[in-house]
Amino acid sequence: MQIDKNVENDGVIFMSIKGDDKSGVETGATRAAASDSAGSSASEGADVTILAIESSCDETAAAVVRNGREVLSNIISSQIALHTIYGGVVPEIASRKHVEKINGCIRAALSEAGVTLEDIDVVAVTYGPGLVGALLVGVSAAKAISFAQNKPLVGVHHIEGHISANFIENKDLEPPFVCLVVSGGHSHLVVVKDYGEYEIIGQTRDDAAGEAFDKVARAIGLGYPGGPKIDKAAKEGNPDAFTFPQAQIPDAEYDFSFSGLKSSVLNYINQAKMQGQELDQADVAASFQKAVVEVLVSHAIKACKEYGYDKLAIAGGVASNTGLRELMEKECASNGIRFYRPSPVLCTDNAAMIGAAAYYEYKKGVRFGLDMNAVPNLPLGDRERRFHANH
Ligand code: KG4
Ligand code: ZN
Repeated sequence: MQIDKNVENDGVIFMSIKGDDKSGVETGATRAAASDSAGSSASEGADVTILAIESSCDETAAAVVRNGREVLSNIISSQIALHTIYGGVVPEIASRKHVEKINGCIRAALSEAGVTLEDIDVVAVTYGPGLVGALLVGVSAAKAISFAQNKPLVGVHHIEGHISANFIENKDLEPPFVCLVVSGGHSHLVVVKDYGEYEIIGQTRDDAAGEAFDKVARAIGLGYPGGPKIDKAAKEGNPDAFTFPQAQIPDAEYDFSFSGLKSSVLNYINQAKMQGQELDQADVAASFQKAVVEVLVSHAIKACKEYGYDKLAIAGGVASNTGLRELMEKECASNGIRFYRPSPVLCTDNAAMIGAAAYYEYKKGVRFGLDMNAVPNLPLGDRERRFHANH
């Protein structure tokens, strides 16, 4: 997969993700074929070309996706550098940047796909969960295009998008399967029973996995964004230098808890400081990462075995963690489970995954009305129908 990057004057990184044969992201030839067929109406069997928009946190993204799994263009405008100086995402800055960037992202996505708004069959957008001001920018843009072009509108749950990122590069992956969703705000173990049908079998009792990475990174002086920095530092450290606790919850064996682990790391850091010892960032990072990864992998493998599934996928920002990918791959291989994971760039927030999720909703007949609103705490799995145009 090729990523064309350009740092703009305001520090925002503009990325266009382009494909190769293996990535599932389409190249020139297939793109031309797509624009030939994109104008056809979305009746049964016809191609469905979706313009997808994502703006739930600090990435403004737009993509054109055909038939759920073929990505004709994938544009991400990342504000991460702007928030780094504050040690985390500042919601007001995120919203303002989304407003500035969204039209450019949509224009770039259409032009790279070689299509126009007339060629689009469906407009899809993340409407929750996320930062309300950030979500509203994408939702407003999608509603405006849907209204002006008279095209159907489909709202997508951000986490359903992350799960659906697996469909893009794995053309053979179909439900049912188990998926471990680990992002900045979520740690869920779900059974994907069918497209858009989820049974949550485990979730975090406190911090999300990504949140724990971010907090520990800050405490050991690695800064923001914590996950990628711990991942990198861990490669230089000894994962057995410290034994940090891995919480097991007796009455909910698939639930997670990362706050005890985080406190244990913080206690160690404070003690080291008081005793004037030098902190070995790499050893702490490696030992912390090992504790998180072992819990995530053991819960996911156990779920596959006990629920009787032989396919396991991972999704969300933390799914790009190299330690997690390696251990999951190894454990899946030794337990006869097929392991699916998106490329790292499709694990972080992007609109291609929103287009993938929207396709299956659209095929089921889901249409949203123009009363669709941003829902910052939208629950996963519980089908939200209040904005459906066709209840
Ligand atoms: O899915 P995502 O991009 O945004 C949300 O929907 O939350 O996830 C962001 C989270 C952050 O907490 C970030 O630190 C974490 O994913 N993350 C990682 C890695 N890359 C991103 N955590 C561990 N290892 C990584 N390589
Ligand atoms: Zn996300």
